[in-house]
Amino acid sequence: MNDDCIVIESVGPLHGQASLVGAKNAVLVTMAATLLTEGVSTLTNVPVSADVTYMIALLESMGAHVAFDVIRRTLTIDTTTVNRFEVSPDLMKKMRASILVMGPLLARFGRARVVLPGGCTIGARPIDFHIKNFKKIGVQFTQIDDLLHAQTTGLQATRIALEYPSVGATENILLAATLCQGVTTIVNAAIEPEVFDLVTVLRAMGANIAIQAPATIVITGVSSLRPFTHDVMVDRLEVGALLLAGAISGGSVEVVNARAEDMDVFLMKLQEMGHRIDIGVNGIGVRVTATPLPEAVSFKTSPYPGFPTDLQAPMMAAQCIANGICEISETVFENRFLHVRELQKMGAQIKYVCGDKVQIKGVTALYGMPVIASDIRASCALVLAGLVAKGKTVMTGMNHWRRGYDKLEDKFTALGARVSIEKGAHVMNPIDRLTTSITD
Ligand code: EPZ
Repeated sequence: MNDDCIVIESVGPLHGQASLVGAKNAVLVTMAATLLTEGVSTLTNVPVSADVTYMIALLESMGAHVAFDVIRRTLTIDTTTVNRFEVSPDLMKKMRASILVMGPLLARFGRARVVLPGGCTIGARPIDFHIKNFKKIGVQFTQIDDLLHAQTTGLQATRIALEYPSVGATENILLAATLCQGVTTIVNAAIEPEVFDLVTVLRAMGANIAIQAPATIVITGVSSLRPFTHDVMVDRLEVGALLLAGAISGGSVEVVNARAEDMDVFLMKLQEMGHRIDIGVNGIGVRVTATPLPEAVSFKTSPYPGFPTDLQAPMMAAQCIANGICEISETVFENRFLHVRELQKMGAQIKYVCGDKVQIKGVTALYGMPVIASDIRASCALVLAGLVAKGKTVMTGMNHWRRGYDKLEDKFTALGARVSIEKGAHVMNPIDRLTTSITD
């Protein structure tokens, strides 16, 4: 267990510009997509994060050859020699995105062997939607303990209706269907920007994909796909974190390569708080200029284009020191309020209305405390709270921070924040291992 920690001290309003790299939730599935073909694919704008390191290890465990130039943030993946279809249990357990290799493996080899990814702190996170719909396209499953063996004698195109617009289930079926003869239709598909980034990748590979309203993806299978070059979409969740850093600290922050269209509802909620939002030409570039008297706003998370669940915790931090009372409902994950306890330690007035709803009464100050991050987005909420808390905030649970963000602490520092990482009893973390291997 790595007990490094991040130390945050309030220094007043943050000002400046930031330019971000690619999204974790886009790059991981794009890396999985390379399994659909043989040859060398190149990804640019790749975040240097623990999850990318884990996905590299997963692809290498299958026989791929991967090189990551962390300075240029360029990843080259050669899948010519991929010849295994089993995902190591250790890697499966490290991150949920490992399940996304199932679709490509089934399409390329007709087999996939995974360990049930298991839940995490934010919820049970079953994969029943994946399994149920893989079965509909001709996949048979056998399960021994938590080992799941999937195989098919040939995928069968059909019409799939998702009972819930699951991002992962949409992506897994989409990946498999690209090489499945016939027309596969996914109704009630997830339409997150990261799913559309995957569609862009698959089209670049030669896939035949049409998007229809409402939320329908139509895939006409092709016989083979080719390697690709792709610039990973900017991480809208890091954009949200940086804009919130500007808002919560009373400053002005611009993310020059943000795509405003990826976050309409989030930006609207910042405006409802009284913050000014300026959007660049063609919707590229977003700047927040904070109001000195922010009003607390209520919001409810929902699948895209609703308020993103991954910005719920960071946005909650901003409500804790806004004026008035608001309510936050989390409808996507059943246990995504673990940051509440930590924010309460810092002086936030938060109470549960019911299991998926909290009520927040804004306070005039938060207080620096030792706090523990329970998941990636909770870690962001606690760092944001630390930016305005009186005194020093020390956050442990750094594995979460490192999994989801690419040196976000450095971006905050460049805006004037006082944020530093202090090494604990140093257990080599994935990023150190990666950069060490690259720079050796
Ligand atoms: C993706 O997870 C993201 N992860 C999550 O980001 C994100 O919060 C989520 O989509 C929703 O936007 C990646 O892309 C790697 P879902 P995913 O399938 O695909 C339930 C972060 O912090 N469900 O849309 O797992 C599930 O339990 C992470 O970056 C089933 O019940 O999300 C959840 O309650 C967190 N059965 C809801 O659906 C299934 O088979 C939404 O899950 C699948 C999902």
